[in-house]
Amino acid sequence: MSNQLHKPAHARADWTIDQGWEKYTAEEHAVWDLLYKRQMEILPGRAADEFMHGLKALDLGKGGIPNFEIISDELEALTGWRVVAVPGLVPDEVFFDHLANRRFPAGQFIRKRNELDYLQEPDVFHDVFGHVPMLTNPVFADYMEAYGKGGLRSLNFAALKNLAALYWYTVEFGLIQTDDGLRIYGAGIVSSKTESIFALEDASPNRIGFDLERLMTTDYRIDDFQQTYFIIESYDQLFRATVDTDFAPLYERMQGKFSKAPEDVIKREDTVITHGTQAYAKSGGRLANADAK
Ligand code: PHE
Ligand code: CO
Repeated sequence: MSNQLHKPAHARADWTIDQGWEKYTAEEHAVWDLLYKRQMEILPGRAADEFMHGLKALDLGKGGIPNFEIISDELEALTGWRVVAVPGLVPDEVFFDHLANRRFPAGQFIRKRNELDYLQEPDVFHDVFGHVPMLTNPVFADYMEAYGKGGLRSLNFAALKNLAALYWYTVEFGLIQTDDGLRIYGAGIVSSKTESIFALEDASPNRIGFDLERLMTTDYRIDDFQQTYFIIESYDQLFRATVDTDFAPLYERMQGKFSKAPEDVIKREDTVITHGTQAYAKSGGRLANADAK
C-alpha cells in the first residue's frame, strides 16, 4: 500500500488489470519454477503447516506462474477469497477495500533471473507464493478481511503507520510457535530463501511474543532482514487480539508514531524468546553481507 500513486491508463477504477497469463514467456515461467524449487528445498520443517497445506491445496507447484482465474476459483471454494492482478503498489484505500472484500491484490510481473534474491517491489512470486497459501486457512482468511475493514476505518485517523506495522510484523514477517517448534507464516519470509533461514536460525534478530500495541509502535526495516520478529501462539490469538480491540483509542495514543526502534528489547514488558545479538545489522546488513548470500 502507498499513497500518491498514479493509476495507469490500462487499469480499471479499482486498479485491477488483466493478469495476461497467456503473455508470460517460457523464461518467466522458468523463473517461477526455479524460485519454487529453491523454496521447497528449505521450507519443509520451517514454514507453518497451514502454509504448506495451502501450497498443495492450490497446486502452486504444478509448473509455471499460476493463472489467477484458476487459483481464484479453487481459493474461493475454500475460503471465499480471490486473487486480482494490480500494476504494483496501489493507494491505501484501494488496497484496504480489496482485502475487506476478500480480494488479494497481486503483482503480475516476475523478477528476472539475475535478481532472484532481492527486489523492492512485490512481484507475482512474493504475492502469490508468499501470501496466497495462508488465505486457504479460514482463521487467517478472516483476519485478512478484518484487517482490510480496519484499514478503511483507520483512514479517519492518523493511524496508517501503526496499522502498517501490524501488517508488517504479522502478514509479512510473522512467526508462529507450534508443538514442533517455531515456524514461519509471514509472506515476506517464506518467499525469501535467505530470510527463511535467518528468521528462524540466526542469532542476530530478536524473537518476541506477540503483543498488539508493541507491534503497532515498533519501527521496521523495509530494505533488509528484520531486526525483530514477533511470535504468535495461534491464528486465533492474532484474530481475537485484533478484532476484539477497538483501535480508535490506540490510534489516539500512538498518533501515527513509533516509540520503539526495530532492534529494541523492552525489559520487563517483552516476552523475549531470543534476545538477538544484532550482529548482522551491526555489520552493515544486506549490502555489507552481499557476498555471503
Ligand atoms: N479492531 C480494529 C478496529 O477497531 C480493526 C482491525 C481488525 C484491524 C483486525 C486489524 C485487524 O479498527
Ligand atoms: Co507482501
